[in-house]
Amino acid sequence: MGKPLGIGLIGQKFMGRAHSNGWGQVGRFFDVPRAPALRLVAARQADELARFAARWGWEDSTTRWRDVIEDERVDLVDIGTPNDVHAEQALAALEAGKHVACEKPLAGTLADARVMRDAARKAQGQTFVWFNYRRCPAVGLAWKLIREGRLGAIQHVRAHYLQSWGGPDTPLVWRFKRKRAGSGAHGDLNAHIVDLARFLTGDEITEIHGAASRTFVKQRPLPDGTGTGRSDVDDAVLFLAGFKQGAVASFEATRNAHGHHNRNRIEINGAHGSLRWDFEDMNVLHFCDARADARELGWTRIMCTAAGHHPYAEAWWPDAHVLGYEHGFVNMAAAVCRAVARRKPELPLPDFEDAYQTQRVLEAALIAARERCAVKLSEVK
Ligand SMILES: NC(=O)c1ccc[n+]([C@@H]2O[C@H](COP(=O)([O-])OP(=O)(O)OC[C@H]3O[C@@H](n4cnc5c(N)ncnc54)[C@H](O)[C@@H]3O)[C@@H](O)[C@H]2O)c1
Repeated sequence: MGKPLGIGLIGQKFMGRAHSNGWGQVGRFFDVPRAPALRLVAARQADELARFAARWGWEDSTTRWRDVIEDERVDLVDIGTPNDVHAEQALAALEAGKHVACEKPLAGTLADARVMRDAARKAQGQTFVWFNYRRCPAVGLAWKLIREGRLGAIQHVRAHYLQSWGGPDTPLVWRFKRKRAGSGAHGDLNAHIVDLARFLTGDEITEIHGAASRTFVKQRPLPDGTGTGRSDVDDAVLFLAGFKQGAVASFEATRNAHGHHNRNRIEINGAHGSLRWDFEDMNVLHFCDARADARELGWTRIMCTAAGHHPYAEAWWPDAHVLGYEHGFVNMAAAVCRAVARRKPELPLPDFEDAYQTQRVLEAALIAARERCAVKLSEVK
């Protein structure tokens, strides 16, 4: 095994935990050319940091994120902070010659995303974006089946990402402030399904045919209990799109769909067959082979846990000892460890260039909703 890959993490809440677990577990389950070493974590919560660092195995902690950039032990800077600070932190890390793994969406604004893309083009370090759902074995199998031509020409993509935590009692955290988040359910959830649609089809969206955006909850309680404040992001965004090779697609995101807790679902219909996947049953891929004998034509429910057959499955448990949310992050961390050692990951990893294309689609949909018109992606740069 090569020398350890020094990791520096910025952010220690939701994604901070998911990423810490990802880096921490890699060496236990995967043979990677360079195993992660958890050097330094930075975040704002001074009172929680030392305990967080000890619990998740970080050697040091700091409230100054630039310490991560300046630390010579750190080879890769992992960014798990709100969207408005991704650009500043990523640029500083790339400038210092580090690899960068940044959370999605790439940035809060297309302008920030573009600057990040441009910096990545010139940088020595590699870039990665945590579109973690690509690393679910069932999604990986879908990618492979499509590459093998089992669906034929893709004609139709239906994707939605529905959650239910965005009601009026949810406090005004950064996710509900446009200045910090860029958008609401759109950048949070549509970012994932646009990435999945682009990843699975291997095709690019060239036009947004129409979009609708709504904000239902306009005031929310302040987190410190002192009153209420303005929530100025979308609560729901729906849009229709067209792909370069002719397929049509629909995307829907909301955090106000009762009973749908994390329903990230994509269906792909091609000339020879169809696929569907739903994160709430993440180990399963449904496949319909339209060329099967008419007597047997229908959906096959595939449990994607077979070592040697389904991506990443061999690293984990015996067949059907199912995986969960956190495994996507461990799988991604393993893929990153391979990529920085110039080994090909089993499934393509999104970099800043790739995530910038997703950000263009998100931006085009927002313009379409605002202007009530169709938008060509060639006009959104
Ligand atoms: N891949 C996914 O499925 C997924 C899921 C949730 C969130 N995210 C993304 O991850 C990012 C973080 O989201 P979260 O839910 O973990 O947020 P969070 O609010 O739970 O945590 C944010 C962390 O960033 C730190 N922070 C904030 N501003 C900072 C600054 N200027 N400098 C240093 N640290 C700072 C905070 O101290 C906190 O530890 C966002 O970009 C979000 O879109 C991705």
